[in-house]
Amino acid sequence: MLSEPAEPPLPINLVDPKLYSDGDPFALWRWLRANDPVHWHPPTELPGFWALTRYEDVRTAYRDAETFSSARGILLRPAEHGEDPGGGRTLALTDSPRHRMLRGLVDEWFTVRSVRALEAEMRDVTRDVVDQALERGSVDFVADVAARVPLYVICKMMGVPRGDWERLYTLTSQAFGAADPLARRFAHLDILGYFEDLQAVKAEDPADDLISVLATARIDGAPLGAEDVILNCNNLLVGGTENTRIAASGGMLALLEHPEQWRRLAEDPALLNTGVEEILRWTSTATHIMRTAVRPVEIHGRRIEAGDLVTFWLPSANRDETVFDEPDRFDVGRQPNRHLALGFGEHFCLGGMLARVELRLLYGELLERSIRVEPDGEPTPLASIVVNGPERLPVRLTV
Ligand code: HEM
Repeated sequence: MLSEPAEPPLPINLVDPKLYSDGDPFALWRWLRANDPVHWHPPTELPGFWALTRYEDVRTAYRDAETFSSARGILLRPAEHGEDPGGGRTLALTDSPRHRMLRGLVDEWFTVRSVRALEAEMRDVTRDVVDQALERGSVDFVADVAARVPLYVICKMMGVPRGDWERLYTLTSQAFGAADPLARRFAHLDILGYFEDLQAVKAEDPADDLISVLATARIDGAPLGAEDVILNCNNLLVGGTENTRIAASGGMLALLEHPEQWRRLAEDPALLNTGVEEILRWTSTATHIMRTAVRPVEIHGRRIEAGDLVTFWLPSANRDETVFDEPDRFDVGRQPNRHLALGFGEHFCLGGMLARVELRLLYGELLERSIRVEPDGEPTPLASIVVNGPERLPVRLTV
């Protein structure tokens, strides 16, 4: 039985981007977990939706992909924007059996074995990026360090020619970071245009890379089609860069705010594995993930109808006090730590292993070389309901 709802600490508006830049979403989520774990969020400029905030509820819903569909989008979007163009077509936005077939095409590239095979090269890329940051001294950790490694790595895996990595870096920075929405839109279109050309080249002359796999793939005997290839390339590029950039920066910020945890890592590098898991839990950069119920279902006595939107608030699930001991404590040695920052179930993050290695290599490089990282100005948090963490993190690097 749930306790009688007490008054919430704030008006409940989970879709106000300012909540994540200037407010305290954790206080709100704590209240929702305790008092209204299956919360109906009325329509705003976004459609109405159910909000799940408890760990077990999110995990149970994640496990039931037959009830909770991804094909109509996995992020809240204004109704006037229409259906997500990737719906039913990209890895993230398909249901099985098509999802399983699509995932089967690329899974092999993201296994422990495949990521290990790339590790030496990833270490070189990381070292270069850190060297350049050291040379400059004062940098924005987000743009100058954290963004580069994952972008270069996914470009390499996709088969983007080396000479184009910098161009894609600029385009993705604009697509995610430009203040002007029009500039962001144009950058997105440029990225799609870039993949349109590249997939045509790879279809004609395939090589050993992910775009070639997609461009020459057949599902149920039929080719994927250029548009599906382009949308999936975009899914890989966005998936491969955005969350890792923010998690790496949010992790750095957490370590700056908890210097004793940085010291623990410096003294015992073996802690880096649990440290990276804690950074993933702590940062939980994917703020919400959405599903559409395709049949009625009841959770804690609330009836969810077919067609209803259901959202999972991952940072909330990852601070659930019934699962995590002292959830608001940042502890690089935390064990167990079965967080949901990378999702769960059929759509579990394809690049989870890759992200873990990228984070481990980045912090490992800083620790091994005893590089001092110090704040060099105020960090700016992102104002977004999709991803949370630093937008800018000015730091000074010295040896
Ligand atoms: C810290 C870094 C990362 C975080 C926090 C993260 C988070 C997530 C989450 C929460 C999901 C589940 C979405 C859902 O439930 O619908 C997901 C899926 C996905 N991620 Fe990541 N991700 C990260 C890094 C990466 C990287 C490096 C890649 C590289 C390719 C990647 C590619 C994908 C793809 C393609 C999916 C869709 C998988 C599917 O639907 O089968 N992600 N990610």
